[in-house]
Amino acid sequence: MLQFKNPSDVYAFAYRQKRDGKTIGFAPTMGYLHEGHASLFKKAAANSDVVIASSFVNPTQFGEREDFIHYPKNPVRDAMLAESCGVHALFLPNTEAIYPNGEEITVKVNARTDVLCGKSRPGHFDGVATVLSKLFTIVQPDHVYFGMKDAQQVAIVQALIQSFHFPIKLIACPIIREPDGLAKSSRNVRLRPDERREAPFIYQGLQHGHCCIKKGERNFDRIIATVSNYYHSHLKLGQIDYVDALNYPELKRMHPEMHGKIIIAVAVCYDQARLIDNITIEC
Ligand code: PAJ
Repeated sequence: MLQFKNPSDVYAFAYRQKRDGKTIGFAPTMGYLHEGHASLFKKAAANSDVVIASSFVNPTQFGEREDFIHYPKNPVRDAMLAESCGVHALFLPNTEAIYPNGEEITVKVNARTDVLCGKSRPGHFDGVATVLSKLFTIVQPDHVYFGMKDAQQVAIVQALIQSFHFPIKLIACPIIREPDGLAKSSRNVRLRPDERREAPFIYQGLQHGHCCIKKGERNFDRIIATVSNYYHSHLKLGQIDYVDALNYPELKRMHPEMHGKIIIAVAVCYDQARLIDNITIEC
């Protein structure tokens, strides 16, 4: 597996692949890789001739009081995992390489950011859209792979691709979970043992909401109340940041009665880790 630090080297590598008629699959990450990331790499390896992954903890998507400094890192293990999943080239830039002019020019996301993580983390998706615009330009992928774990990110990246005419197809991949249902996350290592024992209730609450919809409930507020009530009685350590139910990918209540694709999404704050999870349902 090749490893690059300079954008110009990745660009030249990608250019050569495309000149030779190869398709490029790309999975951007912030490192500290786990099976969730691995699932994206494997899907990319199955679909594309050449797989490029990036590992870059993007400072502009973190708020002032967030965990940028403490974001976990393990570059040696990351490289082994990426290689074992069929990644051909790993891009590991530093901040200066991605932001040569600091934040002189950035991307602003004006829709779908007034809810869920966009509401709780002002500016977060501007940082995501900015770094992805740069990465897409450098890597020149045909396909990009994103996890539904970050469903709002998927919806916004799809809109970014359309807005900026990137000739890229986005492939949304399912959420990979621990055996007890907790969504895999680089931040799970920062849970205390008692918090880790409680965290599987996050997914169980979502399943509760899913069950209600399957049984015929068609009211957004009542679904939110069902899931919130479950959390109020089962989460003793985690603080609920939000629980919401919306049409997906619009991230609005498009229809007063639930219709189309619905997302139930939640964020829970523990001492050192903010966890997110969601479930999408076709109604
Ligand atoms: P990161 O949190 O490292 O996630 C990288 C990709 O892995 C995202 O598409 C995310 O949805 C996916 N992923 C994480 N956990 C997953 C799981 N349990 N199951 C399936 N997929 C999972 O998301 C980011 O980084 C950044 O915002 C980034 C897009 C790299 C821009 O900086």
